[in-house]
Amino acid sequence: MQLSHLKILDFRNLIDVEFQPCAGVNLISGINASGKTSLLESIYYLSHLRSFRTPNISDLINNNANRMELFTSAIDSNGNQIPIGIFRSKQKLEVRANRRNIQRIADITSILPVMAIHPDSYRLITGSPTERRAYIDWGVFHVEHGFFESWQRYKRALSQRNAALRSGQALSYCRFWDMELDQAAHYIDKLRSAYLQDLKSYLSDLLNQFFPAHVVRFDYKRGWKTGLSLLDVLQQNQERDRIRGFTQSGPHRADLEILVDGKSAQTGISRGQQKVLVALLKLAQIQHYTQAAKRHCILLYDDLAAELDDYHRSEILSVLQKMSIQLFLTAIKSDQIDLNGWPDVCLFHVEHGSLK
Ligand SMILES: Nc1ncnc2c1ncn2[C@@H]1O[C@H](COP(=O)(O)OP(=O)(O)OP(=O)(O)O)[C@@H](O)[C@H]1O
Ligand SMILES: [Mg+2]
Repeated sequence: MQLSHLKILDFRNLIDVEFQPCAGVNLISGINASGKTSLLESIYYLSHLRSFRTPNISDLINNNANRMELFTSAIDSNGNQIPIGIFRSKQKLEVRANRRNIQRIADITSILPVMAIHPDSYRLITGSPTERRAYIDWGVFHVEHGFFESWQRYKRALSQRNAALRSGQALSYCRFWDMELDQAAHYIDKLRSAYLQDLKSYLSDLLNQFFPAHVVRFDYKRGWKTGLSLLDVLQQNQERDRIRGFTQSGPHRADLEILVDGKSAQTGISRGQQKVLVALLKLAQIQHYTQAAKRHCILLYDDLAAELDDYHRSEILSVLQKMSIQLFLTAIKSDQIDLNGWPDVCLFHVEHGSLK
């Protein structure tokens, strides 16, 4: 998948921007506050219907406007053009793809797979387990079509069970939801753990290149006690869950523990190492996606130069070059990123929200 055209209206400081990105690498330069991150954020929004910086829509709509509009023309692996349009006011969202209205976020995300690496991405390591579950589930969602339905089914059953726990419903009613949760959880866990197993081979190649002197381990925690079914755990813990008012075990509590030389990556490595490690986690995921889905995803890399020292910057760029995906990179100055030898390069310059 690649974007051949992009039009942005009233998104942050980008009041009216229209351009044709190239299929290879698009380097967007500009001084602080010119609108570089906003441009990447608008592409991310087209795929996820949310930002990687804020949960508030009022942050995204230009301060002097009531709504924003994003249009793109995406080209799929068969060369088909897919027009996508998003109209968003504070009250209303309208999404159209291929001249049809889109109702679910998942539908637009699967049409337009986009991944972002940005200065806050290190939170994948330092943040809560929610960040790491989102990471795993991005990959599973894009390669396993049954995952989304099972996850929806699980979430519905979980909120029903939690409501039953809080309202003091009969035990038999909770048991009904326990069985529903157990079935969906089994499938979700199977997909997540198989996915991480597959991902490890991509990761280990990158780790050998970037962390040759370290042993990096990834331990998947499925969210409930090993050796027991979720049904057993839920039934054992029903009284405890009832007192707390929510379900404390299940795939919604899964995590990915990351250890470097036996120490938690959350505290045992430098911020720069965390940033490199997050970049590798994401690049491995893209490589896996390309092989497993036989499609290409788009990568947005915000502030690549500011994130990495010279050595790591050029090594990451050489990995990116081999991936042949559409890239959007930002930097304060274009000469901070050496794209010598890249076949398909477009340079853009942003100034006060205008693109040249
Ligand atoms: N809703 C909005 N309406 C208008 N302007 C906004 C809105 N939200 C943010 N801005 C402004 O848009 C400008 C561009 O922000 P952005 O984060 O895209 O800059 P940047 O080029 O990435 O800068 P940096 O190099 O510092 O990362 C900033 O001045 C910001 O204050
Ligand atoms: Mg920025």
